[in-house]
Amino acid sequence: MLDLLIKNAALATTGKKADIAIIKDKIVEISAKIDAEAHEVIDAEGHLVSPPFIDPHFHMDATLSLGLPRLNESGTLLEGIQLWGELKPHLTLDALKQRAHQLVKWSIANGTLAIRSHVDTSDASLLAVEALLEVRREIAPYVDLQLVAFPQDGYFRSKGAVKNLQRALDLGVDVVGGIPHYERTMQDGARSVKALCEIAAERGLMVDMHCDESDDPLSRHIETLAQETQRLGLEGRVAGSHLTSMHSMDNYYVSKLLPLIAEAEITAIPNPLINITLQGRHDSYPKRRGMTRVKEMTAMGINVALGHDCVMDPWYSLGSHDMLEVAHMAVHVGQMTGVSEMQAMYDAVTVHSAKVMNLENYGLETGCNADLVILQARDKIEAIRLKPARLFVVRRGKIVSRTKPVFAALNLDGEAHQVDFLK
Ligand code: FE2
Repeated sequence: MLDLLIKNAALATTGKKADIAIIKDKIVEISAKIDAEAHEVIDAEGHLVSPPFIDPHFHMDATLSLGLPRLNESGTLLEGIQLWGELKPHLTLDALKQRAHQLVKWSIANGTLAIRSHVDTSDASLLAVEALLEVRREIAPYVDLQLVAFPQDGYFRSKGAVKNLQRALDLGVDVVGGIPHYERTMQDGARSVKALCEIAAERGLMVDMHCDESDDPLSRHIETLAQETQRLGLEGRVAGSHLTSMHSMDNYYVSKLLPLIAEAEITAIPNPLINITLQGRHDSYPKRRGMTRVKEMTAMGINVALGHDCVMDPWYSLGSHDMLEVAHMAVHVGQMTGVSEMQAMYDAVTVHSAKVMNLENYGLETGCNADLVILQARDKIEAIRLKPARLFVVRRGKIVSRTKPVFAALNLDGEAHQVDFLK
C-alpha cells in the first residue's frame, strides 16, 4: 500500500510522462504507469512535477524588515549595509524569529524547500545567529536551512569580527562566508579570503563568500578564492556569490579567469533580482547591469546556481521568495533565451542549487526524498514564463501546501471563456 501516488506527471527531469509512487518519506517508484492502492492519489493532469525549488543565497536575518528604520533612498548596496547597521541595535530575538517564520511560510507556499541563508556575525551578541539556529531547528520538518557565517561589516574591517565568526561556527553555523570587496583594501580582501578558506579547511566546512559585489572591474577576489580553493584542496565545496564585477572586467582577463574557476570547481551564485537593481547606480548612460557572465560560465561547465538574496529588506523592497521570479530575471538580464539556456536557468534554481548545498537524496528518482512541487504548467519553460500556481507542495511524502488552479472566467458578450494562459 502506497502512501501517496501521483498520476500523469510531466517530469521536470526528463520531460516524460510518468506516475510517482511514495511510501513514507521516499519516492519508491517512477514509471510510465503504476497501478497500486494508495492512501492518497493526486492526478497531476499532465502538469509539471519538479523537485522543489532551492534558494542557495538568502539573508533570513534581514528579511521582511523593509522600512525599518527607514527606506533605502539611493538604492545602493552601500546604503543598504548602512541601513541594516542602523536597524541592528533594535533587533530582538522574537522579532527576528517571527519574520523568519513568516518568510518560510511564503517559501513553502512557493515550493522553495531548501534555503542557504547568510547570517550576520559582526556583532558580539550573535543575536541573529541565535535566532536563525533556533529557526533552523524549528522548520527542519519543512525546509532545509543551511546557515553561512557572514561578516557583513568586514572580516578585518570590523572590530571583533574575526572572533565572532569563529564563535558562530562553534555554535553550529554550517558554512564559512566572507565579503572581501568590503574590506578596506584589495590586500585586506585577499588576506580575508585566505584566512577564511583556511578556517573552512581546518573545520571541514564549505565556503560561500559574497565576492566582488561591485562594479569595479579590478575587484578580482574570485581569482584569490579559486587559488585558495585549490591550494587547500577545497574543490567542489566553495561558492562565489554575486561576482558582479565580472560584468565590467576586461574580456582578456576573463578568458584567463573562467578556466581557473572551472578548475577549482567553484559554483557561481548570481542574484539577478537584486544585482539588476543595486548595480550600475554610479553610472549615467549606458548603465551597466549587475549580472555576472552566466552564459559564458555555463558554456565552460561551471555550476551556476541562482539566489533570491533578499525579500523586502534594506536592499530590495519586492519579492515573495518565488525562485521562478529569479529564473525569469536571469533569462532576461543574462540574455539566456535559447531553449537549453532557459532550461538551464530552471535547473539553476533546482538541481544546480542542490549541488552547491550538497543536499542528500534530492531529486525525482527512486530512493530520493519525497519532496516535490506540482505546478500549473507543463514544462520548465512554461513555468518560467507564467510563474504559475504551485498546485501541490509535497515534503517528505506529506502535502504541505495546496493552491487551486488559477484561471480567469471571461464573459465576452454572454459567451464564457476560461483563460489559464497555457497554449
Ligand atoms: Fe547576499
